Amino acid sequence: MKILKNYKELSSTVADIVKRQLKKQPLSKLVLPTGDTPLGMYDELVKRKLDWSHTITYNLDEYIMNPDHPCSYHSYMRKNLFDRTNIYPDHCHFPYRPTLSFEDKINANRGIDLCILGIGSNGHIAFNEPGSSFKSRTRVVDLSLQTIQDNSRFFGSAEDVPKQAITMGLGTIMESKKIVLMANGDHKLQILERAMYDGVTEDIPASILQRHNNVEVYYCD
Ligand code: GLP
Repeated sequence: MKILKNYKELSSTVADIVKRQLKKQPLSKLVLPTGDTPLGMYDELVKRKLDWSHTITYNLDEYIMNPDHPCSYHSYMRKNLFDRTNIYPDHCHFPYRPTLSFEDKINANRGIDLCILGIGSNGHIAFNEPGSSFKSRTRVVDLSLQTIQDNSRFFGSAEDVPKQAITMGLGTIMESKKIVLMANGDHKLQILERAMYDGVTEDIPASILQRHNNVEVYYCD
């Protein structure tokens, strides 16, 4: 785990990793996160004026809701990245039903080169809540009360947060060739340390990353 000076450094460090990936392999397949943490990274990526015309993206997750709703992850991605680059909209994928055909699409495009992750305050990655099987694939999940509470800041109130989502599975994420996890803020430090240094357990989904052979973790407070 690398501790960076501040949020700016966190954002530009991860943006540089994405930049290097796209330069090395324009036809890269990326998995992308949402939430507050990656916002600075997306701004940095836009500033770098990269050529996204050959890139394929998959988002980690999406609420069960109208994708045109302003709080959907589709809207978030359009606003923060897709509409600010030359990426082709039909190269941008979100988990959908039937979930197995989403997985088929990943496999047909020959897997995932680079997966960028955040971490939830309960140790979730994507929407794989505590207790998720390490073998899980893309599926519909119920959100935990903690996640509904945490994400209510985007919706105004907890009642307005969708109670279900579609998420890439832990098994799916672990098949990525490289994984980068970014975390920002004191409130994430304790769960991050438990995930990275304590036992590997389905109670802390992010702890599965200890079993991946190409993972980098960046934190700033
Ligand atoms: C959501 C997303 C996760 C993300 C987490 C942390 O629950 N599904 O993929 O990692 O939020 O978000 P934030 O960066 O806003 O703390």
